[in-house]
Amino acid sequence: MGHGIVGAYFCLGVCLLPVLLQGLEILDPGEVVYVRTVTKGVVGRSVMLECGDTLPDVYIWGFTMPGNDQIRAVVYNFGHGPRLQRLATSLGELSVISDSSSLLIDRLPLYAQGLYTCQALYDTSEGAKVYYYYIRLLVLVPVSKPYILVSDTSPTEGTRMWMRCNLDNGTGPINYAWERENREGVTAKVSEGDVSLMNVTLVSRNHTGWYRCLANNEVNQQRSDRIWMDIVFGPDVPQIDITPYSVTDRGYSVLERETVTLLCKATSNPPSLYIWFYNNSQVYTGPQFIITKILRMHSGHYSCLAQNTYLNTRSKTTITLTVYYPPEGNPTCAILPGNNYTDLALWCSWMGGYPEPSLAWTGADALADVYGQEHSQGNATLMQPGSITADRSTFTCQGSHVALNTTTGCNVTTLLPPGEPQCSAYATRNNMYLMLSCSWEGGNPRALLWWAASDGAPQGSSEENANILVLRSSATYSGKAFVCNTKHPLSTPNKRCILKLEAPVLVTQRRSVSVYEGSDVQLTCILKANYPATEITWYNNLRNKVWDTPRKYLLHNEAAWSNLTVRETDGLRDSGQYWCSATNAVGGAEIPIMLYVRKYPAPPNVTISKIVYNSRQRTEVDLEWETMTEGDLSGFYVERQRTRARDGRSFVDGGALWQQVAADLEPDDRGHTVLGLDPTGLYAFRVTAINHRTYGHPSEVKSPADPPFSAYPAVIGAAIGGMLLAIIGTVLFFIYLFHHSEILDSRQHSQSRENINFPEDEVVGGIEGDEGAGVGSPQVAGHSPRATRPSPRASPEENNKHPGQRFPIGVYLQISRQTSRPRYFPT
Ligand SMILES: *[C@@H]1O[C@H](CO)[C@@H](O)[C@H](O)[C@H]1NC(C)=O
Ligand SMILES: *[C@@H]1O[C@H](CO)[C@@H](O)[C@H](O)[C@H]1NC(C)=O
Ligand SMILES: *[C@@H]1O[C@H](CO)[C@@H](O)[C@H](O)[C@H]1NC(C)=O
Ligand SMILES: *[C@@H]1O[C@H](CO)[C@@H](O)[C@H](O)[C@H]1NC(C)=O
Ligand SMILES: *[C@@H]1O[C@H](CO)[C@@H](O)[C@H](O)[C@H]1NC(C)=O
Ligand SMILES: *[C@@H]1O[C@H](CO)[C@@H](O)[C@H](O)[C@H]1NC(C)=O
Ligand SMILES: *[C@@H]1O[C@H](CO)[C@@H](O)[C@H](O)[C@H]1NC(C)=O
Ligand SMILES: *[C@@H]1O[C@H](CO)[C@@H](O)[C@H](O)[C@H]1NC(C)=O
Ligand SMILES: *[C@@H]1O[C@H](CO)[C@@H](O)[C@H](O)[C@H]1NC(C)=O
Ligand SMILES: *[C@@H]1O[C@H](CO)[C@@H](O)[C@H](O)[C@H]1NC(C)=O
Repeated sequence: MGHGIVGAYFCLGVCLLPVLLQGLEILDPGEVVYVRTVTKGVVGRSVMLECGDTLPDVYIWGFTMPGNDQIRAVVYNFGHGPRLQRLATSLGELSVISDSSSLLIDRLPLYAQGLYTCQALYDTSEGAKVYYYYIRLLVLVPVSKPYILVSDTSPTEGTRMWMRCNLDNGTGPINYAWERENREGVTAKVSEGDVSLMNVTLVSRNHTGWYRCLANNEVNQQRSDRIWMDIVFGPDVPQIDITPYSVTDRGYSVLERETVTLLCKATSNPPSLYIWFYNNSQVYTGPQFIITKILRMHSGHYSCLAQNTYLNTRSKTTITLTVYYPPEGNPTCAILPGNNYTDLALWCSWMGGYPEPSLAWTGADALADVYGQEHSQGNATLMQPGSITADRSTFTCQGSHVALNTTTGCNVTTLLPPGEPQCSAYATRNNMYLMLSCSWEGGNPRALLWWAASDGAPQGSSEENANILVLRSSATYSGKAFVCNTKHPLSTPNKRCILKLEAPVLVTQRRSVSVYEGSDVQLTCILKANYPATEITWYNNLRNKVWDTPRKYLLHNEAAWSNLTVRETDGLRDSGQYWCSATNAVGGAEIPIMLYVRKYPAPPNVTISKIVYNSRQRTEVDLEWETMTEGDLSGFYVERQRTRARDGRSFVDGGALWQQVAADLEPDDRGHTVLGLDPTGLYAFRVTAINHRTYGHPSEVKSPADPPFSAYPAVIGAAIGGMLLAIIGTVLFFIYLFHHSEILDSRQHSQSRENINFPEDEVVGGIEGDEGAGVGSPQVAGHSPRATRPSPRASPEENNKHPGQRFPIGVYLQISRQTSRPRYFPT
């Protein structure tokens, strides 16, 4: 019977099944109700499959495997409790929940997935109701722990790479996410999606980091272990940092003697190796290049080369480093003339530094704002109008330089040259050239000077401070004026000085001077107009230039006159035409001055009026004389001579000498007593008058007479003794003469030389007592004295006049007696 019912229900179910499968729903009461649901279960866990809310009176659970259309019964309950079929054991730990028709599957296996059908029959008052429950069970698998596959764990920047997130189990759909943790520990999600592959077409350093992937499905989520992606790259273009830091338009600048640090940075993986170059030669290895006390010679190009040894790549940066250094010392200031000596160009220079220093003029009167300053190449010039600038204004030039922490400067002070310009003229030796000198020194800036002729035509060049115009000497300049013009910025109006050139003009007070011989005489010449100044020169009567020779010529020169003193004039030698002369570069003049040296008139002849021994001792003679005529005389002298007796009378011995026994007797004297005679000797006496230097004729020779006396024996004895002595004396005298003839000769020689040198002696004789007659005619106006010099005439008579023994003794004695004026007497 159970069989039949089961078979009926079974039949019912099987019979209805095609209808169920066709999806028909019977909505009317009495119709079968179809309910469809989906239930998800996770493998290994539990899942409950429900079949209505209330327990049906009859139910059957069936199972259809996926891909199969066979329904197979799992459990049924026809009111007598659930009956598990064999199939149920293969669907995990399947049980029916008590007091319900729901199935509980524990430890859900994967193959429990499929379509579960619950056919339920409810017996209600309205009749039996049939429900068909279709429950689709999905068995889900959780994702297993994913793992990462990468194409390259150290890719190079710029290449491509991929990463795949792999997992073994897991029900789809599976979602993937990628996380990157950078060096700093910051984690970021980089991609998310349903693909496991991350395809990077352009690797960059930003991809460096720890990577993990996350996989999740409906059931769970899993994280992979992290992997390190090391992107190899670089080096980048190096960056050079310089301390101390200072950039100019030409590059980097540092100050001399500073310590300079050059730091190179070029990002790279693995890190860069650094090499430093100076002007293309390697100088250092390492990132930081330190130059202690950098010098100006270290200016140039510095390059940093960065190398990636892994990639064997390199990159390089070059900078230009300029070392600044200040100029040496301090600025130099000067004032130069500007604008044709009307302005002041204040000039300041401070050369040698790099870069150029800055220079600026300041000062009480500086008009920098008005006129501006020119500034270039280490010098600065400020133009300052001279008209508004005071004498002794000071200006300061301030200099500063980036390499110096202090400013330095220099000062200048304007100076008007003191005083007035000074003009003078002088000539070179021999008056070849004429030099016109003009000076006005001491100015700052220096004054400009130039010469001009009196008509204003400029002469020569313009010079500063002093200007010398050189002209060839010429008489045409005589009487001409020359002007020295000056110009200085601080001087208005312009000063000048004037020179007038004049040939010398000579005058004398007396063109003819006469003097008695023996005295000094002064000849005077006065220089009137004369420029440039010159001196007076004297020429004597022999046309020889006169020098100061104190025995003969004394010169007394003053600027405007000159005196020539001829000393102890000699009537024979000093008469004649003298010349004074003066020559400068523009002319010359000379004038003759006639000098007449006159002899004094010859004194009168003298006769001895009385000559007598004044005692018997014969040691003294009284002498008296008288002049034969009236005439000038200045005195007398008396001479004696040893004589011999002949025929009872004394006569003049040819070999004996006249001996002066009294000189300088007064002109009024007419008598004289000669003392100290040898009583045994015989004497002759004579008297001569002199008039200064002029000697008169000696008187006739006389021997003294004995005084009147009668002692005869004594006379005889004396006479005999006298004769004996006379003989002896004569012999001795000749011996003496023989030995001393040389003395005589030499005396004669000295006199004859003078006579030969001055043959005018004879002519001079003619002048005696005659003022008007002279050696030369008094042509005072003539200026050609050279012609007036008489040529020396040698008188044959005088040249033969050598005083030797050829002369009669009387003549000879006369010569020896007269020292300065020999006279010749025929015997
Ligand atoms: C994946 O599933 C198979 C079969 O269910 C199992 O043997 C294996 O251990 C699972 N793998 C992981 C990683 O869970
Ligand atoms: C990555 O993408 C590029 C272009 O999009 C493709 O050519 C390449 O095959 C992809 N790589 C992988 C592993 O899919
Ligand atoms: C790397 O990242 C930085 C900032 O995150 C970005 O500025 C730079 O462009 C990135 N570089 C590349 C190659 O993507
Ligand atoms: C380096 O180069 C700079 C610029 O060309 C040059 O001025 C400098 O003199 C060079 N230095 C040396 C040592 O050659
Ligand atoms: C400079 O000044 C002088 C005198 O004032 C004048 O003669 C001369 O012509 C000037 N020179 C120039 C170039 O102006
Ligand atoms: C001042 O600088 C200028 C400009 O280069 C130059 O011509 C002049 O010669 C310099 N002056 C001096 C005195 O060096
Ligand atoms: C200027 O520099 C020098 C050395 O360069 C230093 O000795 C001096 O103290 C500095 N002066 C000032 C005022 O800074
Ligand atoms: C320039 O003059 C000023 C004031 O007159 C003075 O202080 C300064 O020391 C002077 N400078 C020089 C370099 O002489
Ligand atoms: C120069 O000579 C003149 C005339 O002979 C005279 O008057 C004047 O005193 C003399 N001067 C001197 C200093 O001797
Ligand atoms: C002086 O004496 C000399 C010779 O003894 C004679 O020649 C001359 O005429 C005399 N003079 C006079 C003025 O008598």
